[in-house]
Amino acid sequence: MSHWQPDSWRSKPILQQPTYEDKQHLKQVEDTLGSYPPLVFAAETRDLYKQLGDVAEGKGFLLQGGDCAESFDEFNAPKIRDTFKVILQMAIVLTYAGRCPVTKVARMAGQYAKPRSGDFETIDGVSLPSYRGDIINSFEFTEASRKPDPQRMIEAYHRGASTLNLLRAFAQGGLADLHEVNRWNMAFVENNPLKERYHDLAMRIQDSLEFMNVMGINSINTPTLHETSLFTSHEALLLNYEQALTRVDTLTGNWYNCSAHMLWIGERTRQLDHAHLEFFRGIHNPIGVKVGPSMQEDELIQLIDALNPTNDPGRLTLITRMGADNLEQNLPKLLRRVKQEGRKVVWSSDPMHGNTFKASSGYKTRNFDAILREIQQFFAAHKAEGTHAGGIHLEMTGQHVTECTGGAYQISDDDLAQAYQTQCDPRLNADQVLEMAFLVADHLRLP
Ligand code: PEP
Ligand code: CO
Repeated sequence: MSHWQPDSWRSKPILQQPTYEDKQHLKQVEDTLGSYPPLVFAAETRDLYKQLGDVAEGKGFLLQGGDCAESFDEFNAPKIRDTFKVILQMAIVLTYAGRCPVTKVARMAGQYAKPRSGDFETIDGVSLPSYRGDIINSFEFTEASRKPDPQRMIEAYHRGASTLNLLRAFAQGGLADLHEVNRWNMAFVENNPLKERYHDLAMRIQDSLEFMNVMGINSINTPTLHETSLFTSHEALLLNYEQALTRVDTLTGNWYNCSAHMLWIGERTRQLDHAHLEFFRGIHNPIGVKVGPSMQEDELIQLIDALNPTNDPGRLTLITRMGADNLEQNLPKLLRRVKQEGRKVVWSSDPMHGNTFKASSGYKTRNFDAILREIQQFFAAHKAEGTHAGGIHLEMTGQHVTECTGGAYQISDDDLAQAYQTQCDPRLNADQVLEMAFLVADHLRLP
């Protein structure tokens, strides 16, 4: 294997990148970012690695979620707070139901670069470069907005830093108090049209907290009830940005990508001989790879070995996104082969990206039942193969958007226009995502 450097990806083929016209400006931005402080600390990243190692060994669960694409325009405290809150609300339900620790990883504080199916978008006969995420260009359909601008990387860095700062404050400063999170869940259940369905589990969690309280275990004397840890992640697609934030950790001498704790490679950029694989093999973060329905067994083993040659549990999370109709045909054979070959990975389910369709209203959407069905099948496949269903990866928001159809509030195609706010893929809204947590809880009970 050739020598790895933070820039060795530059000699490999690469897909899904913008073409920057002003190369000098690009270089200047990369140098500036390279001089800025890292966004995360390598030791935190090792903590996540260890937690994911436990998940790989069947002793934990990974909950990963957030926007498809974070937006520079919608950059405010309520938005960050609301997504943080629902992640916590889900985590408490899943922890209780699975009787195992839930590692929380937000798709936040850097989820700004998007792969696209076409390089150009055509509206009314006008073709412009596709929107590739706010770190690259702007969503607005004008020539100037769609031009890739390197300066946006600096902007993304600062927004990522502020988001992370607030997340850390929320996690440590009292907003994550378990009693508080439980109160939000009780309110969610009380107001939900399907409250009968969720009531029992919510009451049992409530009872457990009350019992602990009586026994003298409370937020004042037990910091774990009062604080939490939340890690950050994004698709490391724009390697100019990722390289600039990749640093040597002075404690271990290893390279870490300090733009987030965990990074993943998307389904469209995971070719074995391409730039993203090259970049990822040298960083010591826990990493993920999206695995779609076309993945074959041999190819998967090669991919695993390229990214985790020492077979360390926690290093690699395979995020499967098969589609509810394809999962049964495509996932079991991969689970079987990886198990047979003794490779240690976290298996996580992204039930979103294989279930996207265009509604008759013209909006890109996903249906709640299809998403749930993919998760259920994911659990069933793992059960049948004797492997651990290690996590879920959701596109979600704490806001009350109408982007995915279905759920207890029965969002229909006609409702999508009410609050369709995503700049990219449709997200589950706060109610839908909590319902999902309560329904997934049924599958989580350990044997
Ligand atoms: C995503 O997670 O937003 C994404 C683009 O996924 P995938 O690479 O699986 O298509
Ligand atoms: Co998406």
